[in-house]
Order: sequence, then C-alpha cells, then structure tokens
Amino acid sequence: FTSPMVVGIYSFLRSGSTRNKLLLISFDGFRWDYDRDVDTPNLDKMAQDGVKAQYVTPPFLTITSPTHFTLLTGRYIENHGVVHNMWFNTTTQEKKQYYMTQFVDAYWDNGSLPIWITAQRQGLKAGSLHFPGTAATYKGETVRVREVEPRFYDYSNETDWRLNIDKVIGEWFHQQNLDFVSLYFGEPDLAGHKYGPDSAERREMVQQVDRTVGYIRDKIQEHGLTDRLNIILTADHGMTTVLRDGLVEEIILSKIPGFSFKDIQFHLVDYGPAGMLLPKEGMLEKVYQALKGSHPHLHVYKKKEMPSRLHYSNHPRLLPIILFADPGYVINGVRLCLDSLKHGFDNQVMDMKPFFRVVGPDFQKNLVCGPFDTVNVYPLMCHLLGINPEINDGHLDNTKHMLVPKKNTEGKSQSLLVSL
Ligand SMILES: *[C@@H]1O[C@H](CO)[C@@H](O)[C@H](O)[C@H]1NC(C)=O
Ligand SMILES: *[C@@H]1O[C@H](CO)[C@@H](O)[C@H](O)[C@H]1NC(C)=O
Ligand SMILES: *[C@@H]1O[C@H](CO)[C@@H](O)[C@H](O)[C@H]1NC(C)=O
Ligand SMILES: [Zn+2]
Repeated sequence: FTSPMVVGIYSFLRSGSTRNKLLLISFDGFRWDYDRDVDTPNLDKMAQDGVKAQYVTPPFLTITSPTHFTLLTGRYIENHGVVHNMWFNTTTQEKKQYYMTQFVDAYWDNGSLPIWITAQRQGLKAGSLHFPGTAATYKGETVRVREVEPRFYDYSNETDWRLNIDKVIGEWFHQQNLDFVSLYFGEPDLAGHKYGPDSAERREMVQQVDRTVGYIRDKIQEHGLTDRLNIILTADHGMTTVLRDGLVEEIILSKIPGFSFKDIQFHLVDYGPAGMLLPKEGMLEKVYQALKGSHPHLHVYKKKEMPSRLHYSNHPRLLPIILFADPGYVINGVRLCLDSLKHGFDNQVMDMKPFFRVVGPDFQKNLVCGPFDTVNVYPLMCHLLGINPEINDGHLDNTKHMLVPKKNTEGKSQSLLVSL
C-alpha cells in the first residue's frame, strides 16, 4: 500500500536523484546461442560494455504472448492467466489467433498489472511499441504512449525497424521524456519458423538484428542518452528443429487406439508441441488412459498433476488434460499440421532458452553471468525505475549481481523515506 502523499515524495526524491531511463527490447525467438554461428560485432560490443547472461529460462508454455507477459509482470503463466497465444471459449468453440487476442482486454487483465501501469500509477511515463499486451486495457488504464501494429504487418522490414527506433529514442525518450519503453521485433522468430533455426536465412536475420542493435546504440548516443538510459535486450523463447518427412513416428491423436475426438468437447492442438483437451462430461478418465503412454515422446498430464516446476497447472483457463511433446515432435490432431510451431516445448530444453544482454549506467561492464528465470526480469526493472513492484514470482536477488554497487544518494533517499 502506498498513499498518494508517499508517491509524491517518491517522485520528488526521484526527480533530483540518479534514476535512469529504461528500454526493454524483445527480439522474438532469439535463441541464446544464435550469435555462435554469425558474426555479431554490435552484440559483442554490447557484451563488452555491459552484461551477458549465458541464457535465460522462460516460463512454460514457451510461446509468445504468455512469455512476454511474464517479462512484463514477473509472474508465472498460471498466475498471470495469459495461458496461450490464442483466446478461446470452450462453450462456443470460438478461437482467436495471436493478433486478434491482443484486443481482448479481459484475457490480459486477469489480476496482474504489467509494469507500464504500475510505473504510471507511481508518477512515471511509460510507452510501448508492438510489445505483446500493448493493445489491452488494465483496470481501466492503458500504457499511455503506445503503438499497436496494424492487422497485416510486415514484422521483418529493416527500414520500418529503424523508423520505429527513431520514434522510440528520438520522440518518446528524448522529446517526450518517457522513463520506460518496451519495444518488440517479430524476428528472428519468423525466419526460424520458415527456414529452420539452422538455416542461412536465420543467420542472415541475426545479422539484421545485430545491425539494429548497433543502430539503437548509435541513436541513443546521438540524443545524449547513453549515460541516462539502461537497455535490457532479450527474447520470449528459442526455437528448435521439428523432425519430419518420415524421420520419426509422428504424434497424430486421432490414430491413437482408444482415443476419439468424439469424446472431446474442446481442444487446442495443431499448435506445435503442446496442446490442451477438455473431455466431454464423464470422459476424462477414458481420454487420459487412452493417451497416457501411447507414444514414447508424448507427455500426458491431468491438469492437477502437471510437474510443479512448469507452473502451468493452477489456472481456470487451463483445460483438464495438458499434452506436450519431446524436442523434435509436435502434436497433430487428425492429420499432419505442416506449419507447426518450432517452440512451445518444455522450458528445460536448451533450444527453448532466449538470450539476455544488458548495458547502461546501472550495469556492470564486461561481465558474463549464469542463467536465471525470466520471472526475475520484472523485479530488476522495478528496481532500476525506482518503483514498488506488484506481487510477483521473481526476486531481485537473482539479477542484482548485474548492477553496479549502489550509490550513496540512494541510501540517503531511503533513510529519508523511512523517517517520513
Ligand atoms: C463463452 O461463451 C459462453 C456462451 O456464450 C459465455 O457464457 C461465456 O461467458 C464465454 N466465456 C468467455 C471466457 O468468454
Ligand atoms: C481470470 O480469468 C478467469 C477465467 O477466465 C476468471 O474466472 C477469473 O475471475 C479472472 N480473474 C481476474 C482477477 O480477473
Ligand atoms: C519497408 O518499409 C519501408 C518504409 O515503411 C517501405 O517504404 C518499403 O517499401 C518496405 N519494403 C518492403 C520490401 O516491403
Ligand atoms: Zn515468440
């Protein structure tokens, strides 16, 4: 609980304090090791000037909207409620794809506030460009400065990327003096899906990302913000190769003996390696027994029995049976789904881990650190912005080693506050 008066004092102390601006950038599907087989001079320079984690662990389910919302809230998916890229209604059978789901307020506003809203409530100015969750309204409030991509957007156009960067750095941070911005790019995810994570096209896209990182840092320098702006650069999940073309025994649910879609009231399958089923009344046990152990690379759980380390069990939106496949396999309903997702696997799988880099006045230089879970990015961001976090599943202890040791001035404001 924070009274308006205390918030006012916070802002007053901050205005004369050393709080720096923060830019959170996500490059969708940038796997932790994508810089290994590509020349990336700008990412290398950023690692020298800042901190590089070996990798980070996203929450399960390792797909775009759920994992991005974990970055924004510090909550596991079962706690924030954005359980899938798709909104769905098990009664009407209606499903909305990724883009249209962005506009379903009740889906996103399910009890956890993204950091923009918390920052705004505490007197800061926040913005967001294309970041998942940007379009939604939370407890009657949106991120005040925002841009949502149009319905059919070319997520790969480097010229557009630069125009967006000019807007965020030149207009939002420099002219409008925003404190925090989240910025999203749809690559190298699309190249990874289309051509595979080991393709020349994916490596070329990583070079485009690298040029973009150079461009961002140049723009920041140009606007005199280098010493006043921290950057967190990460992604939502990684990418792996799906085995196809008779190389493996495919998982096709309708071909499993004893299983029938006639026993199913609603299903989410043909969406890569994970799926969910709502059996018809009285059919749960039959469906479960038919699927359990039916394929050596298919994991079948009753919702309540999901491994607790996955934190994907305790939410009313999760359906009674949850399925996920081993790396290389995807879950097909009736026939082979040929453009399956190449992520969504168990978050322990190394290919699902994203990269993580930071640079800026509050961060150490030339430091490589060990991995941590992405729920811990949120408390780090709140700390950098000097705001009180909402209840979350992360802890600053897991990320504070990246920070330069605390300055005295901060200690002073702390004790002043305590005495108030
Ligand atoms: C799903 O549709 C039913 C029937 O129209 C409605 O009663 C229910 O509230 C809907 N649920 C969601 C989550 O929209
Ligand atoms: C979250 O969504 C679930 C199911 O859609 C609903 O039952 C619950 O009341 C919602 N909680 C909040 C806090 O919005
Ligand atoms: C990329 O975006 C720019 C600026 O919006 C546009 O002029 C150009 O035609 C686009 N290029 C492609 C290949 O679509
Ligand atoms: Zn993604």
